[in-house]
Parts: sequence; structure tokens; C-alpha cells
Amino acid sequence: MSMDRIDAGFGDVLDRAGQLGAGGSVTPTVSNARADWSPASWRTKPAMHIPADYPDMGKLEAVEKQLSSYPPLVFAGEARTLMSRLADVAHGKAFLLQGGDCAESFKEFHPNNIRDTFRLILQMAAAMTFAGGKPVVKVGRIAGQFAKPRSSPIEEIGGVTLPSYRGDNINGMEFTAEARTPDPQRLVQAYAQSAATLNLLRAFAQGGYASLANVHRWMLGFVERSPAAERYRALAARISDAMDFMAACGITPETTPALSQTEFYTSHEALLLGYEQAMTREDSTRPGEYYDTGAHMVWIGDRTRQLDGAHVEFCSGIRNPVGMKCGPSLAPDDMMRLIDKLNPDNIPGRLTLIARFGSDKVESGLPKLVRAVQKEGRTVVWSSDPMHGNIEKTDGGYKTRPFDRILSEVKGFMDIVEAEGAHPGGIHLEMTGQDVTECTGGAHQITATDLQDRYHTHCDPRLNNEQALELAFLLAEKLAAKRKA
Ligand code: PEP
Ligand code: CO
Repeated sequence: MSMDRIDAGFGDVLDRAGQLGAGGSVTPTVSNARADWSPASWRTKPAMHIPADYPDMGKLEAVEKQLSSYPPLVFAGEARTLMSRLADVAHGKAFLLQGGDCAESFKEFHPNNIRDTFRLILQMAAAMTFAGGKPVVKVGRIAGQFAKPRSSPIEEIGGVTLPSYRGDNINGMEFTAEARTPDPQRLVQAYAQSAATLNLLRAFAQGGYASLANVHRWMLGFVERSPAAERYRALAARISDAMDFMAACGITPETTPALSQTEFYTSHEALLLGYEQAMTREDSTRPGEYYDTGAHMVWIGDRTRQLDGAHVEFCSGIRNPVGMKCGPSLAPDDMMRLIDKLNPDNIPGRLTLIARFGSDKVESGLPKLVRAVQKEGRTVVWSSDPMHGNIEKTDGGYKTRPFDRILSEVKGFMDIVEAEGAHPGGIHLEMTGQDVTECTGGAHQITATDLQDRYHTHCDPRLNNEQALELAFLLAEKLAAKRKA
């Protein structure tokens, strides 16, 4: 998020914002835009997982219109910079680390939570950068990751049936008819929370907090606390030596800004398209180009990637980097059609394919997808989401994910993508900087019975701080081995 990248057309972006109200039609002004696309064109397509049971749809429309006049959260130029960083990932010259909450919530909105997620991502990135010898592009699932697709639109408890919880920007988690009724005002609160979160992230990234010395100090703390300290100590010690060496050569945060600042990007699932449309603005420096200014990057979920559906339509027209989840039900032919629609010009960094198969399915499902992409000569970022295919339910009724299955899927992913001649470019994780007990396993050996202690997630189970760092160190070992080979 370097400030010098900010789009020069800031004033114009604000001037034009008012034209983009909910449902309003916007005519692209240049030939390189798809003539039949507008920020609202998704409204003519079948839209799954978007609630239509607001008691007053007029109020929803009014709120969306209001949001479309609010300041953008990110700028087009920043999204373009991320696109070029992701192009490096696609070409095997960098690695992508994307992670954060499954669902952000109003209740967990606290500066310490933002700080801890940020610190965690930086520490993981430092270990992976050192071991892999490549820059790590850091993208949070944060500052907008609220809306959730649910397996069932209703939930039944003790004979009472209510609409499912869909994320804090739609309805409330509490099991009452009132909380579960969608409330448009929640969109405004989600926008405000996203803006404040991003503001703090920008301060952390630019203000010195992200200095490599800090990151390394936090990392040493983790290593000493870990029951697997012995295994991680060697890598941490080598980073210490490298930093001492650099300092002796005069390369310090004082002399080298790159050591005291970092680039940090935001992302979320583009699920609730009314909100995404309201945040979509024309780039005044490049007329006809539209950016979703609610995040640097957005992705399409595994349940909403229908070729002729609303989510693919919306994402095909915005110019941000976009991701698409690829699960076991995606056939290679359908994937190729989606790639044609989402990235017709084969722009490197535009499209990240996020494989989420499950440790037991990745070997049978992923190779054919990678092969199809390679055969057609398409350039994508291949990333691994080892979370969503590895959910289990415990006897105690908790949704969990075993650490070993997560690790095994990422390792399988790396071997498969590499064997097919492509670059295993990234990982996509649900994790938190907090000390929760939601996923089992890891060096602290969290068991199914431990889950009740600190199970706080608003949706899916997240890796806690120590588990996520452990995963980064184990991946670092693999990256280092790859580099040597
Ligand atoms: C998610 O990333 O939170 C999610 C719902 O994933 P998927 O679309 O892969 O199921
Ligand atoms: Co999830």
C-alpha cells in the first residue's frame, strides 16, 4: 500500500461516485470495456446465496445508494500494483500468502485483533521469504470479509426454524427471529468497520510497526514457546545471522525503508453483490475501467462460480485481481470457460485459482485442472486453500479441521502443481492471531475435547496463532528444499 501508487484521479473518482447508485445503469465509455457489462449487470443473472428476504427492499436500495457515495476504501492504482505483484507469483518469482478470519464480526472488532492478524501474517511471510528466497505478497482476508454462503438457508434448533446466520453485514448470529432478519443498516456498520480496519492496517504497514526487526523478535517469541522449538530454532537463528550481517553492512531500517515498511493488501469474497456494486467506481484516469474499491482483491466462492451466474458476471467486469475457488465439483472444461470469461486477455496476476479439495481429494481432483490450464497456455496464480475441504464434525458437535490434514493438503498441492509444470504460488488460510481452540492438532496438540475452551469463530474453525506459524515454518522447510533442488 505505498502511497505513491495512489490513483491520480482521486477527485474525479469522488465526483463520479454518485452516478453509481444501486440498480442504476452505467454506460461504459470506452471500447475496451465489455459493452454489455456494468456494475449493475449482475442483477439480470441468477444470484445464489444473496438474501432476498429483507423486510423492506426499498430500504436496502436506499442504503446501497448511500454507500455508493461514500469514499472508496482502496484505489485503482493499488489494485493494479497488487495485480503486478500477483503476476510475479504466476511466473514463480514470488509467493502469495492470503489469510484471515472466516468471517469478520462486529463483536470481535478490536484493534488488538487487527494487530494480531497483521503480526501473524508478517511473521509467516518472513519465514517463508527467507526459506523460499522470494518475496511474499501479503493479502489479508480482512476489512470486508463479512458475508457467508451457507449450506442451508434455514437452521433448526429444538423444533424452532429460523433463517441461517449469513454474516454480520446481513443478519445477527443470535438464534432469535429478530437477529436473523436481514437489516440493511448492517451494511453501513460493515463499511465503517472495514474503513477503520484498513486505516489501522495502513498505519501498521507504513508507520514502522512492520519493521523486520519487530517481526523477527515476535518470531523468536513464538519459537521459544513452541513445544516444537527445536525444529524451528535453526531457521530463526539463520534469519538472526542474516539480519546481523545486513546491519554490519549498514543495511538497517534507518538506511533502508524496505526494512521498516511493508505492502499489505485486503481481500474478501465478493458474495453480497449489492455492497460490491455500491463500492465499484470508474477509474477517472482510465475511463471505462471499473474497480471494486471495497478491497484490493475479491474472490468468487466455490458455491457461486456458475458461468452464467451473477457473481461471475460481476467479477468479469471489474479490473481488480480476482480469485476463484476450485473444489471437487469443478470440471476442467467448465473451469476453462470460467477462465475465458474472467480473464479473456490472459493477463498475468488477474486470476488466482484457489484449489480447495480436501487432503483426501486433492490428488484425484487437482492434476486435471492444472493440466488443462497448462495445455491452453493460460497464466494463473495457483493457490491452495487447505481449509474448506478438511472440515470434520466432532462427537461434541464442533466443526473442526485437523492440523495434519491441512498440512497434508498444502504439501500435496505443491507437489501436484509442480509435477504438472506450473508454479505452486500461494496459500489461502482461515486463521487468527488469537489463541483460540478451533482446529485440532499442532505442536500444542489441541484435542477434540479442548475445542470447547476457546471456540469463538463466527463461521468456520480457524488456525490459531501458533498453529498458523507452525504451518508457515513447515512450509518454509518445504520451500527451502524446493529451492535447493
Ligand atoms: C470461504 O472461503 O470462507 C468459503 C466459503 O470458501 P469456499 O467458497 O471455498 O467454500
Ligand atoms: Co470459511
